[in-house]
Amino acid sequence: MTMQSKVTAAFQSRFRRQPEAVVRAPGRANLLGGHTDYNDGYVLPVALDRAAWIAAAPTAGPDVHLHALDLNKSAAFSLERISPANGEWADYPCGVAWALQDAGLGLLGMEAVLTSSVPVGSGLSSSAAIEVAFAYTWQVLSGFELDRAKLALLCQRAENAYVGVNCGILDQMASALGAEGCARLLDCRTLESELVPLPRDVAIVVADTKVRRALASSEYNVRRAQCEEAVAILGEYLPGIRALRDVSSDDLERHKAHLSEIVYRRARHVVADNERVLQAAKALRAGDAATVGALMKACHISLRDDYEVSSPELDVLAEAAWEVEGCYGARLTGAGFGGCTVALVAPGALPDFETRVVAAYEAAFDRAPDIYACRSANGVERMV
Ligand code: GLA
Repeated sequence: MTMQSKVTAAFQSRFRRQPEAVVRAPGRANLLGGHTDYNDGYVLPVALDRAAWIAAAPTAGPDVHLHALDLNKSAAFSLERISPANGEWADYPCGVAWALQDAGLGLLGMEAVLTSSVPVGSGLSSSAAIEVAFAYTWQVLSGFELDRAKLALLCQRAENAYVGVNCGILDQMASALGAEGCARLLDCRTLESELVPLPRDVAIVVADTKVRRALASSEYNVRRAQCEEAVAILGEYLPGIRALRDVSSDDLERHKAHLSEIVYRRARHVVADNERVLQAAKALRAGDAATVGALMKACHISLRDDYEVSSPELDVLAEAAWEVEGCYGARLTGAGFGGCTVALVAPGALPDFETRVVAAYEAAFDRAPDIYACRSANGVERMV
């Protein structure tokens, strides 16, 4: 059964009518640019064919009735009185409704069913997919116009200010603006972006450690603060910088003596990864998967050693992938600490990749990772 028929059938049986819209919003893998988004830097995400799906129809009043099929849990609230977040799944739709209304948009009440094929908490943006799917569903049902970047910003606001997770703009932009066959080169300061075609003969393979670590309780905020510290100190010597995005490797080396060793390493990762994103986009345009893969490997090593957001499980998956002939490169994707790696693999090498990566992981941890060969997909869209 397809996701579309599953969510449609669930809506029909729960609400005893036809959905007026079916919307899908994808998860993403980020090829390059780890922890660069909140430094005003560059990222290179691909929207995946794993997505959050919503079937919905409007209600006459302000009431919202939701059902999360995968959790078998329902939630109801009124658009006129949105209570604070309570740590439940419905925080995402409530937060999105709050952010859209706070931006002055008029929302209709709705009945909706949600299901998702993005593994939860895996670093593939399961929450951004849900936020973007709800925001777009409200847009479609309520009839307002919102450009994709604005929609992504409002979803990020829902996550920052309502759910309470201090994420950057990467995930929501990737889900809103993906395009099949392409990665998106995004400037997280200006939100200008450009599609970059992916080589046709390359598969995007996600390997999931199945270790979950919630972003909110992780070291994420510590890393953000260290980056801000670097900018505050470097700003005394480099007037006019606003973020690590404005610092080159040469600048950083010249002034490194003013930074603590740890803050220097954090900054070195961000500055180098920004440069790697631009090199990778150039290599992709030239169809040069080998260079992109080498940059992904360098990114993983830098996230492991300088930014220190990897984990033993992620390292085993990445290192095993690098050894496979026909694997161009692999790195952890998302915030790190747990979750997934993403690899670019020649299709002929897929069986070998799976066997060898699974074997390495089992040998180290006595359990298997999940491996998904993914395709690139479009950003959020109305399917019905
Ligand atoms: C998480 C956040 C993003 C980004 C990545 C790291 O996915 O939600 O905003 O910071 O981590 O690149």
